[in-house]
Amino acid sequence: MSVEQALSIIKPDGVQKNLVGEIVGRFEKAGLEIIAARMIHLSREQAEEFYTVHKERPFFDDLISYMMSGPVMVLVLQGDSAINANREIMGATNPADAEPGTIRADFAESIEENIVHGSDGPDTALQEIAFFFGDGGICPRTRQDCTKWPPARSNSNRRPHPMWPV
Ligand code: CMP
Repeated sequence: MSVEQALSIIKPDGVQKNLVGEIVGRFEKAGLEIIAARMIHLSREQAEEFYTVHKERPFFDDLISYMMSGPVMVLVLQGDSAINANREIMGATNPADAEPGTIRADFAESIEENIVHGSDGPDTALQEIAFFFGDGGICPRTRQDCTKWPPARSNSNRRPHPMWPV
């Protein structure tokens, strides 16, 4: 296993259904770290450029309209085999084929409105991350054990955070 980064998009239907926290929670529970996040309402130009690989597909126009229909949340996920891990958490593109317990099986209406997007390979991940965060916004994790909550207390005199279990 190697540490990878993957782009995730919580699409307009996911944001509309107030599923941002639920979806981010699934990523975090699986051990993936969020190292960048931004909410953005895509313009037609941005949506067409992002999905240019699908330009000749019959569903392209509907895909662009859908992706412009409301704001999306774009995230960079980091972790061991993050690209495949994210794909497993999302489930198959068509929710009808997605494993129970995956995001798309649980929340997506159809293959057209399927709640989330995730990078499908290392080259795509690099390209997609640069598309949204090429101008900055990636925040490397600089604290150790930041995926473990609550963190181990090294200094017993330190006042605990009020939210931490005693
Ligand atoms: P996504 O993983 O973002 O990649 C391309 C998107 O096109 C896909 O999710 C769906 O939202 C959309 N789409 C619509 N129809 C189809 C289809 N028949 N096959 C694949 N993707 C489709």
